[in-house]
Amino acid sequence: AAPALGKHFLHLDDFSKEELLDMLDRAKFAKAKFYARDESFKPFKGMTMAMIFTKPSARTRVSFETGFYRLGGHAVYLDPNTIQIGKREPTRDIARVLSGYNDVIMARLFGHDDLLELAQYSKVPVINGLTDYNHPCQIMADVLTIMEVKGKFEGLKVAYVGDGNNMVHSWLRLAARIPYEFVCICPPGYEPDDATVALAKAAGISSITVTNDANAVKGADVIYTDVWASMGQKDTLEKKLRDFGPYQVNQDMMALAGPQCTFMHCLPAERGLECTDAVIESRASVVFREAENRMHAQNGVMLHCLQSLAAN
Ligand code: CP
Ligand code: NVA
Repeated sequence: AAPALGKHFLHLDDFSKEELLDMLDRAKFAKAKFYARDESFKPFKGMTMAMIFTKPSARTRVSFETGFYRLGGHAVYLDPNTIQIGKREPTRDIARVLSGYNDVIMARLFGHDDLLELAQYSKVPVINGLTDYNHPCQIMADVLTIMEVKGKFEGLKVAYVGDGNNMVHSWLRLAARIPYEFVCICPPGYEPDDATVALAKAAGISSITVTNDANAVKGADVIYTDVWASMGQKDTLEKKLRDFGPYQVNQDMMALAGPQCTFMHCLPAERGLECTDAVIESRASVVFREAENRMHAQNGVMLHCLQSLAAN
């Protein structure tokens, strides 16, 4: 069910290309206000946001809390022990309780179905702050960053190297709405979800390749990577250390891609595993700009999704 006012932000392809571009335009606007130290833009004045976390976070927690506050709102951080969603109380009860107090709910959860249940029972918009399945806010920040660095996003080649995880699913769902060339390069057995690859291909918008061949980075405008073992899956790391060797983003791989190639990582990074310290610290790396853009991109998302509630 959709909330009475506003829209949930659960998957990128829940939105049209025009709506995604509107979020990015609003992000650029909010970022310009931030850099101009313009304190007059307070569209979320008087609004509150509940932020549910069942996993750790630096960027998501701080960028949402700070970003919402800067635009006039107040955010309530709920750590993994406070609500114990699904353990102390069912998700559908928490949805109805929190949406009685707040104008928006941001949630970082393990199970994607739990997020969908939260959204189904919430009266107010629910924003996806990462699940085991996807991480759409991160991709909005990444697209904003690519637009800034390259001057455009459409048509560029993004080569994701590593585990076929929640980041990949969001890149794929983006590809169903905005045209670009997406290549997912992963070790055999670590490919992304088949249904999500099929969904992205069926949209017929973007060029999508899933391959085990690391040479496919050639000509990439962006090489993107992420941890080999995601939150909640750290016990898989020992096996992955054996399987992921040829898939480390190092200077040889960056050179193979070409001098135009920018390095991106959603962070936190395991230097020496999915990427080397030299690459993350190189001139080609924009990882901290990406991290900063989380705040602006999410403000753009919320400005779009809450526009019927926001002041000015
Ligand atoms: N990239 C990202 O979501 O970082 P956190 O896990 O620190 O929020
Ligand atoms: N794939 C990572 C992303 C962290 C931002 C994880 O889920 O842990």
